[in-house]
Amino acid sequence: MAPPALPGFGPIHAYVARRTGMALSDLQCRRLDEKLATRPGGLSAYYLLHLQSPAGAADMAELIDAISVQKTELFRDEPQLAALRTHVLEPLVAKLHRPLRLWSAGCATGEEVATLLVMLAELGADPGSTVLGTDISESAITRARELCFTAEQLQRVSPPVRDRWFVPVGPGRFTLVGHLKERASFACHNLMDSPYPTAAEGQGFDVIACRNVLIYFTPESFERVVVALAGRLAPEGMLMLSAAEPLLRAPPELRTVRCDQAFFYARAQERGASTVGTPVLGALKKPSYSGLPAVGSRQGSETATSGRFPAVGATKPAPEESGPHVEADALFAKALEWAGGSEASPHTADTLRRCLALDPDLAAARYLLGMVLEQEGALAEAAEEYRRALRSLEEGRARTTPFFLNNARLQVACARAVERVERAGSLPPR
Ligand SMILES: C[S@@+](CC[C@H](N)C(=O)[O-])C[C@H]1O[C@@H](n2cnc3c(N)ncnc32)[C@H](O)[C@@H]1O
Repeated sequence: MAPPALPGFGPIHAYVARRTGMALSDLQCRRLDEKLATRPGGLSAYYLLHLQSPAGAADMAELIDAISVQKTELFRDEPQLAALRTHVLEPLVAKLHRPLRLWSAGCATGEEVATLLVMLAELGADPGSTVLGTDISESAITRARELCFTAEQLQRVSPPVRDRWFVPVGPGRFTLVGHLKERASFACHNLMDSPYPTAAEGQGFDVIACRNVLIYFTPESFERVVVALAGRLAPEGMLMLSAAEPLLRAPPELRTVRCDQAFFYARAQERGASTVGTPVLGALKKPSYSGLPAVGSRQGSETATSGRFPAVGATKPAPEESGPHVEADALFAKALEWAGGSEASPHTADTLRRCLALDPDLAAARYLLGMVLEQEGALAEAAEEYRRALRSLEEGRARTTPFFLNNARLQVACARAVERVERAGSLPPR
């Protein structure tokens, strides 16, 4: 007797969402359905068991590929990378005098790995320094291993940096120079699975970059992964998420480190231990090489859009000294700091509301207010704030602010958040 047909794709959606940690969007659900609909002979009730079994691994990998968002770029989010260089990598190189160990978790097709390798090389880090790239998608990792890029992708890289670290491998194609390439390693790894990778000899990582990955996750998976990543940091290690993924209430394992244009999360130290990094506003260094713009000074901000790298989504903050926007930015920075602290501040939402009264189109502040409300369980209010932020981004009214210079990413984050909250609360879409 033939096995019964699967009653709709719902159980498969749920399983894929659970395995990947993602809150599936409507688009991802449609992609899954299209993929499942192409299976010859339809799906039996046993298909879910098949996906869960080792024999179903290849089919599961195809489904994951169908929904995974692998958009990435070399030197993505330059202001944040400049802050990473100045406040994290430079101090680590100066202090540790040993090979650094970096991990790009959710590296997609390898651009972030190449970026980190070039940054380490430009800083004169120990030549034994390594970068591990991992991703849930096998096909992404296969491409990443090549570390091969088109001339178009390399347009973001300044000519001197490109000439130092990339070599042609065919018409319009470039790869990293051999000795840099050797420092990269890749593995397929699902952030929902343990054990997590370790660096050589079971050591922790000095830097873990997990950018633009958790934005797609459910809040529960997000939290779980952050704690697991924190457990893989070296004692003075630093976690870098993207600006659109700020931690609300950092877990006790992490301490929020605020630079002038970016946030990082340091592994929490025992009392009295020294820290690397220079997370203080005002104590900022000038760049020591020409690859990335400086941050922290007006001059640096200007360099960020000076054309050495075509600025992607990075808009120069308004050169005001005072006024409602400056006040709104200051309130936003304060609220962001509270939101990332280990204890919830009852003032966060109020501060954000005051900030938005001064500048209703500070979309990042509205997004953060949405996150705070979502965490408090006020789903309808959260959805409304996310929608308003999305509208002001879509209509081009949104102003950028330090920490959230990339409105294109913020727009993706807001759209995801609207869907997530509408689904969680079964709120009617507007
Ligand atoms: C948008 S890309 C980000 C690439 C890079 N980090 C960047 O910022 O440019 C997101 C990547 O996360 C990966 N990903 C999604 N869920 C994952 C999971 N559960 N474990 C590991 N990687 C995952 C996707 O396959 C995709 O390649």
